[in-house]
Amino acid sequence: MTTTEFPVDRTCPFSPPDEYAEIREGDPISQVRLPGGRQAWVISRHEDVRAVLNDRRFSSDRTHPDFPLLVLGDSQPRDPDLEKSMISLDAPEHGPVRRAVLGEFTVRRMEALRPRIQEIVDERIDALLAGGGPADLVEALSLPVPSLVICEMLGVPYADHDFFQSKTATMLKRLAAPEERRAAFKAVESYLDELITRKEAAPGDDLLGRQIVKAREEGTYRHAALVSNAFLLLLAGHETTANMISLGTLALLENPEQLATITADSGKTLDAVEELLRYFTIVDTVTARLCVEDAEIGGVTIRAGEGVLALGYSANRDPRAFEDPDRLDIERGARHHVAFGFGPHQCLGQNLARMELQIVFDTLFSRIPGLKLAAPVGELPFKEDASIYGLYRLPVTW
Ligand code: HEM
Repeated sequence: MTTTEFPVDRTCPFSPPDEYAEIREGDPISQVRLPGGRQAWVISRHEDVRAVLNDRRFSSDRTHPDFPLLVLGDSQPRDPDLEKSMISLDAPEHGPVRRAVLGEFTVRRMEALRPRIQEIVDERIDALLAGGGPADLVEALSLPVPSLVICEMLGVPYADHDFFQSKTATMLKRLAAPEERRAAFKAVESYLDELITRKEAAPGDDLLGRQIVKAREEGTYRHAALVSNAFLLLLAGHETTANMISLGTLALLENPEQLATITADSGKTLDAVEELLRYFTIVDTVTARLCVEDAEIGGVTIRAGEGVLALGYSANRDPRAFEDPDRLDIERGARHHVAFGFGPHQCLGQNLARMELQIVFDTLFSRIPGLKLAAPVGELPFKEDASIYGLYRLPVTW
């Protein structure tokens, strides 16, 4: 049997690569080849994916030389002077760093942000309508909304977003040269380094300012740690939500009966958001791990030193966990998907992402009921970057 090469690209925007089902239904924990020739295990069933992501014997340390990377020369810091952000930390270091910022992302905190997010969405839709159709929804709405929201939350001037958006796009580009990705990483890092130095002198009432004040009071403040976690928040909050806005809009336009359900009852929009997250699972291979102590998963022994890809997209289409998994059903009410990961590293920004998506879909379809695609689905530019699936452009009209 030939070993599958990973990552495998999606060939249809609405379905996982065929290889996922073949692996899941054939040899659900099997070896694949990564770029550069190294082997890693893929874990494809829902139960096993959750088991790996909730097990301390699987490390998140992306700076470890044996960590299974899907992009050669990946942008994760390997320079020992650079701090790891929380996504690369294991217990016991991970918990305190995550808890320090957790309070900024609670449901209650997000509810307090709701009116401002609604305002941002309304302003973008005003501008879209004023410009007239056809228009590119990615540029007009999908990217600016999460970008404006996370910039305001963190206290990063939105005026600088062109700069870091272009740099983060380079960092996420799988085919970019390693030096180009590294230079982009460094540029954003020095930008945040300077921004945080200015905030240290005069911390404002924003997430970064509050983190400085709180950590100083507790005697735990470290500049480098805040820079790397600010970097993570800025990056994690952008492309992910943006791509879900575009793909979610596309899926709803392509499934008018499901769209009609939420336009008739906005109480159903959050369920639709949940189902769209499961259906697309746009960050699928980010949940990679390095086994650091022999472990048995689904009857297979994984040895210390071996890499593991816990495939969220395969787990989210596992018929053992979801009935008729390839069907988009916004009323299925299945909240046990792993689109935000699982276990200690489960997405910190999930409440924010849910709220942004809910507000966008409700507002977009109620303010522009005649919204439609301005190009056939087959001609849309889907992108498959380092670890995020999405759309470069979504031409719409009304
Ligand atoms: C639809 C949008 C989003 C999706 C699909 C998504 C997905 C994920 C996934 C799968 C993980 C787990 C990574 C792992 O286990 O290694 C994760 C972690 C994380 N996400 Fe998100 N995310 C989204 C939006 C956001 C937003 C808006 C923010 C913040 C503003 C955010 C911040 C984070 C952070 C900080 C982590 C690391 C948490 C930790 O290591 O403890 N994400 N996300």
